[in-house]
Amino acid sequence: MNANAGSTVEGALGAERVTLRVPRADDRARVRTIVEATGVFRPDEVAIALEVFDGAVAAPGRDYWAVGAYQDSQLVGFATYGPVPCTVATWDLYWIAVDPAIHGAGIGRQLMAHCEAAILAEGGRLVVVETSSRGDYGPTRAFYRRLGYREQATVPEYYAPGDALVVYTKLLVPSAHG
Ligand SMILES: CC(C)(COP(=O)(O)OP(=O)(O)OC[C@H]1O[C@@H](n2cnc3c(N)ncnc32)[C@H](O)[C@@H]1OP(=O)(O)O)[C@@H](O)C(=O)NCCC(=O)NCCS
Repeated sequence: MNANAGSTVEGALGAERVTLRVPRADDRARVRTIVEATGVFRPDEVAIALEVFDGAVAAPGRDYWAVGAYQDSQLVGFATYGPVPCTVATWDLYWIAVDPAIHGAGIGRQLMAHCEAAILAEGGRLVVVETSSRGDYGPTRAFYRRLGYREQATVPEYYAPGDALVVYTKLLVPSAHG
């Protein structure tokens, strides 16, 4: 699969038909709107999400990759991902967010499926996702578990007092080492 190829796919509920393609720089304002609208990210996290998005659109595949989900040409969700330096084919899913107005309609699942297929096509092996232990991230953790991600570690106090790092992984290629 070409990670830069666009595709039109029907949502899991059959309701949300979106086009997946590489975003452009002029999608930046919508990325900010969506990330802020989710209500889970602090302002410094919003800035980092935009920085990673900027890197992905400026030089796709250099450090970061991005995919956007579009309805009627409007960005309704996106994900950014990239290879982890100093690993053998481990990739990080840096950011994923969907417009809260259409959560639960299968768009996040489609974005993740695209990322995983693109990572596999690039020779990736393991996908790592980092998220928070906070109560308001409960739906996000349920989302990753539903998509086959396994909780592998927690690091207490990582993000903030009382806010642990939770690490999920998914092996895309079976390992002889379990
Ligand atoms: C996490 C997020 C991207 C999911 O996107 P989405 O489009 O709502 O998710 P989908 O509709 O594709 O759901 C995929 C699966 O996850 C499950 N899921 C999604 N939201 C869930 C929730 N709140 N509770 C339980 N399960 C949930 C769905 O049941 C679905 O399973 P199914 O296809 O077998 O029915 C979206 O909720 C979001 O933007 N959250 C805020 C930002 C965020 O937390 N990003 C990750 C930062 S680490």
